Amino acid sequence: MINLSCEDKRFVEETWQKLKAKLEVTTVKSRNKIPYSTKDGVHNDQADPEKGFIYLWTNGFWAGLNNLMYAETKNEDFLKTAKASEVHLDRIFKNVFRMDHDVGFLWHLSSSALYRLTGSEESLNRALLAAMTLSARYNPDGNFIRVWDNGRDGWTIVDCLMNINLLYFATEKFKDNRFKSIAMRYADMAMRDHVREDGSIYHIVEHALDKPDTVLSYPQGQGYSPESCWTRGQGWTVYGFILSYIHTGKVEYLETAKKTGRYFIEQVKKTGYLPLVDFKAPETPVYYDSTAGAIVSCGLIEIYKATGDEYYLEGALNILKAMEKVWVNYTLEEDSILQMGSESYRKGIHMPIIYGDFFFVEAILKLLNSDFLIW
Ligand code: GLY
Repeated sequence: MINLSCEDKRFVEETWQKLKAKLEVTTVKSRNKIPYSTKDGVHNDQADPEKGFIYLWTNGFWAGLNNLMYAETKNEDFLKTAKASEVHLDRIFKNVFRMDHDVGFLWHLSSSALYRLTGSEESLNRALLAAMTLSARYNPDGNFIRVWDNGRDGWTIVDCLMNINLLYFATEKFKDNRFKSIAMRYADMAMRDHVREDGSIYHIVEHALDKPDTVLSYPQGQGYSPESCWTRGQGWTVYGFILSYIHTGKVEYLETAKKTGRYFIEQVKKTGYLPLVDFKAPETPVYYDSTAGAIVSCGLIEIYKATGDEYYLEGALNILKAMEKVWVNYTLEEDSILQMGSESYRKGIHMPIIYGDFFFVEAILKLLNSDFLIW
């Protein structure tokens, strides 16, 4: 239970009412779409029947956002949209080469959540098929989950700390510890190879395919350079480790979430709690990434819930309040909520991205004491 000051409570309740009013409209308008961003204020569509289905790792977030909203409001409109979105994703099952590590983002937020909310056996089947695919990507010789193929076979990324939550779910459903064991090997690897002494992270690490626990190099990722610190990656790390702690109880994961969370808070203080794209990039140009702030806020709130340490709650509230003031769009005529997301340091700067909306809403729901943990 989170007890907020009167001022913070007012902020959370007012923000929630405005988000709900907007999403009640957007969920109907974009029911049959899979949005990624917007064009002229209107959601684009990765499942546009004219253009054909466009595969993106983000295609589960619209279902996920509607599942979050349904869990809190029980408004059937949200459920209808989540179900419509889930059916679009079935197309990916037909192309096994699209089934990389991101099956976690795709099906944990859509089908696994729909199963938990409605008991649908069809949704459970989809989620477990995805989990089996993810576990099959485990390389026992190198001791890591292979994220991509085609020349990037030995790469691991911090982002995948979020995908492994699907494996914790599968362990519970199958009553089979193998899934959890693979997930924990990944989290252990990330603690050892991705997290630096100062609490910042390497986005990508290349591992030997045929020798266990062997780092070969640090390839360029979505940040400024391999040695810098991509902010969204830092957010994935904080939220990923606290979730692994919640699912396993392993105290080292909690400690790593705290260490990386502290690094995020101390860096973002320097820019008025508005996150830059990269914490270790040159001072100019100044690029922001709101999605990183939304993701880390979810993680920081969960750290607070696990430890009772106000430092993390304050960090989340400062980030959310700073971003809400300048980057949140409540206009009913436009579809996106959180502005100023950035795909990476070099591409797609300052745009609305669907996962920014997802995590912003998720963070506000946590502060409202919603008890549905979608991950
Ligand atoms: N998982 C890819 C990204 O965060 O952009």
